Amino acid sequence: MTRNHNITVLAGDGIGPEVMIQALRVLDVACAKFGFTVQRERCLVGGAAIDAVGCPLPKETVEACDKADAILFGSVGGPKWENLAPDEQPERGALLPLRKHFGLFANLRPGVCLPELSHASPVKNELIPNGFDVLCVRELTGGIYFGTPKGRKEENGDNVAFDTMVYSKSEIDRICRVAFTAAMARDKCLCSVDKANVLQSSVLWRETVIEVSKDFPEVELSHMYVDNAAMQLVKQPTSFDVMVTGNLFGDILSDEMAMIAGSLGMLPSASLGQRKESGLYFGMYEPSGGSAPDIAGQGIANPIAQILSVSMMLRYSLGEAEAADAIDAAVNAAIASGMRTGDLYTGEEGETKATTDEMGEAIITALQL
Ligand code: IPM
Ligand code: MN
Repeated sequence: MTRNHNITVLAGDGIGPEVMIQALRVLDVACAKFGFTVQRERCLVGGAAIDAVGCPLPKETVEACDKADAILFGSVGGPKWENLAPDEQPERGALLPLRKHFGLFANLRPGVCLPELSHASPVKNELIPNGFDVLCVRELTGGIYFGTPKGRKEENGDNVAFDTMVYSKSEIDRICRVAFTAAMARDKCLCSVDKANVLQSSVLWRETVIEVSKDFPEVELSHMYVDNAAMQLVKQPTSFDVMVTGNLFGDILSDEMAMIAGSLGMLPSASLGQRKESGLYFGMYEPSGGSAPDIAGQGIANPIAQILSVSMMLRYSLGEAEAADAIDAAVNAAIASGMRTGDLYTGEEGETKATTDEMGEAIITALQL
């Protein structure tokens, strides 16, 4: 397999560009250390693209991504573009079409709270003395986000708006296989989250998960209604290993998971398409947090989510697992050494308050060891 890789870099808005600088520095060091190359083409996306060329996802950007092995995405959106029509806004106008165009149906959102950072979690600390590690597998190109009919109409003199939550068996089957496969590589527990007491699409969801589970006899499968899952996540996050769910439920639960992990600045995500023969995926990798316009440009954002997005990209799209492991270990080492960006800093003994650049530097130092 070639070790000369190509990626498209879409830094976007807000803190995107500044955390991307650190992520690409880390990538440079990983390339040198492990002997591979990654060509990067930078393109416009989001508000930056609206300002430059008038739309959040220019054709040139999509064409560049088409030619790449993966997309490394920063974040999009901010107050400047908030008053545009919904479909023209950076988030919806760029993210949803990218997901659909590339068939990125599997969204992996790891919710990891490192033991050293459990005090930053709003969950009672005695419940998570060793932190926790949950993986949310969210279906990303179906469900109520994309279902039709969708729209507005006049009915009996009233204004009506509607969306359709629809799932086909094949869509459920393929996301469940991703989740079971992920569970096999972890603690072999999978919790499927649905609303089968009310929704037809959830009844089919549950039936299909049970069918797929026959191909993964080692994985312990459980089912939970989404309202209960939202409660259990704050009550006992350590009771979960992998969860799999539809687009809307996954959107909500993964934000809850990010919150209880302590800081949005720590969590990466991967959006993957169909697995290729090589075992790798075309994917888009991005921090779980948003563009954080309130702290953008100050050099204080936590670059870890973007750096861990590089690690996920190396693992799932570029086949450089050794480099990915090394980056993960370097991030843990930087945290263990006490480096803390503002989102993590509590002033406890042993902590050093770090800028975006200093956090990047600490991770690079650890990676070079
Ligand atoms: C996310 C975001 C998007 C979503 C929005 C911005 C369209 O919240 O990636 O979770 O709802 O999927
Ligand atoms: Mn979301």
